[in-house]
Amino acid sequence: MCGIIGYVGNNNSVPYIIDGLKKLEYRGYDSAGVSILQNGRLVTVRAVGKVAELEKAALLANPKGSTGIGHTRWATHGKPSEENSHPHTDCTGDIVVVHNGIIENYLILRDKLKSLGHQFKSETDTEVIAHLIEENLKHVSGKNDADLLIKAVQKTNAEISGAFAYGVLWARTPGLLVGVKNQSPMVVGLGENENFLASDVPAFLKHTNKVLFLEDGEIAVLRVDGVTVLDKAGKAKKVKPVKISWDQQTAEKGGYPHFMLKEIYDQPQAIEDTLRTARTDFGKILGLNTEALRGLQNIHIIACGTAYHAGLVGKYYIEQFAGIPVSVDLASEYKYRTVPHRVDTLAIAISQSGETADTIGAVKKAKSLGFRTLAICNVLGSTLTRTCDSTFFTHCGPEISVASTKAFTSQITSMYALAIFLGNANGNLSQNVFDKLYKELMALPKAMSEVVKDEYTVRHLTRKIYKADRFIFLGRNVNFPIALEGALKLKEVSYRSAEGFAAGEIKHGPISIIDKGTPVFMLMPHDSLFEKMLSACQECRARGAFVVAITTPDGEKQAKDVADKVLLVPQASEFLQPALNVVPLQFLAYWIAKRLGCDIDQPRNLAKSVTVE
Ligand code: G6P
Repeated sequence: MCGIIGYVGNNNSVPYIIDGLKKLEYRGYDSAGVSILQNGRLVTVRAVGKVAELEKAALLANPKGSTGIGHTRWATHGKPSEENSHPHTDCTGDIVVVHNGIIENYLILRDKLKSLGHQFKSETDTEVIAHLIEENLKHVSGKNDADLLIKAVQKTNAEISGAFAYGVLWARTPGLLVGVKNQSPMVVGLGENENFLASDVPAFLKHTNKVLFLEDGEIAVLRVDGVTVLDKAGKAKKVKPVKISWDQQTAEKGGYPHFMLKEIYDQPQAIEDTLRTARTDFGKILGLNTEALRGLQNIHIIACGTAYHAGLVGKYYIEQFAGIPVSVDLASEYKYRTVPHRVDTLAIAISQSGETADTIGAVKKAKSLGFRTLAICNVLGSTLTRTCDSTFFTHCGPEISVASTKAFTSQITSMYALAIFLGNANGNLSQNVFDKLYKELMALPKAMSEVVKDEYTVRHLTRKIYKADRFIFLGRNVNFPIALEGALKLKEVSYRSAEGFAAGEIKHGPISIIDKGTPVFMLMPHDSLFEKMLSACQECRARGAFVVAITTPDGEKQAKDVADKVLLVPQASEFLQPALNVVPLQFLAYWIAKRLGCDIDQPRNLAKSVTVE
């Protein structure tokens, strides 16, 4: 995600920037940096780690100047290191850039710029922007330096693709800060003789609550005495400032009362960002050529908690699309069970944090057995990514709430992309089928943005059931892991007893715990197993359960006959449906916990990352 803050005013910008970065740490915290314009020269200080490390380094270097920018990083390209920390510079060192997002065509641009003589110092996509602006400054004309810079930025924007927001400083234009927004967040804070550019409002809320929200494709030009917003066509446009009434804490959560709720709503974006890199060649990521990919005989998935449930979904995907047998293990079990040694095995470890001790231990065991290892992970540079042979990154940004939501759906998305890629590579899927599945996958963010609109219906439902002392979740096939995840989410945040089962299994025992009024959640999209789920509804209802059916529009009518309440989710393809079905269950857990007065973001006895065995 990354956080950007920029300041132009009459005071020393450093304290404003450091303070702003601390408020943006929820967006990323693996390294940070500032660039300050001091006597016509840019002074840059960067440090690995949290903003506190940068603060120490900045105290030592003691830069001073009334125009400056800063950045707190959540690595996407290049490990967390000082060289990869922002701000990044051009060859002259007179242009600095801080950036949030992904420049998709950066490799092509980097090669082009290198051939023109530009020298790169980092592994990041961001550095391309600085060099491109430097290059474009040679090819634009303008009435003064400020005009030149704006024109060079506009030309640069036309050449880069992806989702990005960035800020630029040029040593030749003191008192001027340029900000760009395209599909990544960027806002402007209007102060008294000082103005701010930031990824998010909390960065400057202490100083002003007057905010300009930029639209995609717009450029903000900030000076001490005012801000101009240029539209896509480069024309100045009037933007009405909005007065923010949030307090600091609410602002950090994007206006939501809890990170968990914010992160549920982040999911359409998180999936879209993850899919941006899913377009890359998994063969390269795995370091395997076509022959080796065809030769893969076994896949072992290892993970803990929510990530384990994503692994269970992944098993259905890989077996369906790639026809490779998959076993899924809890990492803590994998370490101690006898794992038959089979050549041509790929072990996939799924982890949001990349620091879960059990998962890392299990990967070490897989390596010792000679298996190739792949991490599906959200944190660049984490121990897991350094331990595995290769990594595919979910790009959902830092997940702060202990209960995982957006990481889960991003993990499912990644597993789907991996499965269809493997299927295509090993000949299990024809190109036509692959193209169709891929197209369906690309439509997932849109469907996800529909399903997150349904919070109110779930919230309303929880009024009736939140006091129940046990909850049951049932699903079949690819929705069975979603039943497990629904139960885990509820347990984690509300401390209620909740269990997930395969719907076909309830008659073999679990049905005995159903009592009058027990809420039972049925994951029953209108697919080939719908009829069987209707029977399960009836079985539970006959024992007095309060049945909630989570279904798709085509199943609504029949579901109404057998359920006490129907929750609708948009229809996706059968195998993508789990990513949508889990969302009402996330809202459910949230609202039950909220009504019970639980500590939602930091539930008792739990930790976000369990780094001990
Ligand atoms: C902890 C967290 C869970 C998480 C699990 C695995 O138990 O509380 O929310 O699912 O660890 O974490 P990982 O970072 O490896 O995905």
